[in-house]
Amino acid sequence: MDKRIQLLDAIRAIAVKTPMNDVEVPESVVGFGTIEYKAQTCSACKKCILACEPAALDMEDTLNMHDYLRVTVPQEGFRSKNREVLVTLLQNLKQDHDYGDVQAISVPEGLPGYGSIVWSAEQCIACDKCIEACPEDCLTLQKTYKLPEIIGPIEAPPPRTEGKDWEPFIVCFVCWECSHAAADLAGLMHLHYPASIRTIRLPCSGALEPIHIMTAMANGADGVLVTGCLLSECHYGGDSPKAGNFMQEGFVKFWSDIFEEIGIGGRLNIDFASAAMGIKFAEIVETFTEQIRKLGPTPIQAKTEVQE
Ligand code: FES
Repeated sequence: MDKRIQLLDAIRAIAVKTPMNDVEVPESVVGFGTIEYKAQTCSACKKCILACEPAALDMEDTLNMHDYLRVTVPQEGFRSKNREVLVTLLQNLKQDHDYGDVQAISVPEGLPGYGSIVWSAEQCIACDKCIEACPEDCLTLQKTYKLPEIIGPIEAPPPRTEGKDWEPFIVCFVCWECSHAAADLAGLMHLHYPASIRTIRLPCSGALEPIHIMTAMANGADGVLVTGCLLSECHYGGDSPKAGNFMQEGFVKFWSDIFEEIGIGGRLNIDFASAAMGIKFAEIVETFTEQIRKLGPTPIQAKTEVQE
């Protein structure tokens, strides 16, 4: 199954409420965003469609009239003369006619050079290839993720009651280098931190993929904690903005915002510790566990129970 579709299915599986807002995509996060299309300057050459590997773009045989009635011809003119003639004509006609609620008109078959690009948020991998291919600069990539459009309506699960013996179950992803050593050191120092965390080692915090976080949540984790080396000290990139921990920090911020929107906010966090910071590691775990304790058990399992 396509990785992106798999990820969207996973978000839907753990959502407990319908998202209301779009989510900002941090600069460091690539592969997410929204394509914006300027219909007025498009010459329907279809170059963007040919460049789009995941087939996220298509051409509809319609012209959105409101777009054309609003636009003015730029001083330097349009690159497509056909479009310029159309826009000028419509602008002139607009003064004499009331178009009422006209939204779109159909382009007759066999009339090349007209039509509207349509974009599928589910298919798009925000690779920028369509933008590079467009000779008219009609497409731009906005760093927003249209969550309500992508996820759609979600049925809210009934409230979950908390048993008196309940203790948070937390999945903690640790990098193989510093944060794993910090966890070890905390153990050697006999520091007390909650036993309900399950640590999973990764070569680097940057190796963690969103699907791993979703899978942990879908399988009943009350929270997911990611830990890595101190910022600027990742063994894979050091102080480069592309170092594993810098990249993962951006991803966790992005996914935390998504979690907030789908009703499971506060259940994902990232923090950093060097190999010598056993005490800090214990504090990170303690603080996150306390936060999850206040939030109570994950509502996701309840949702699964309802569907059964
Ligand atoms: Fe530890 Fe990259 S090696 S975060």
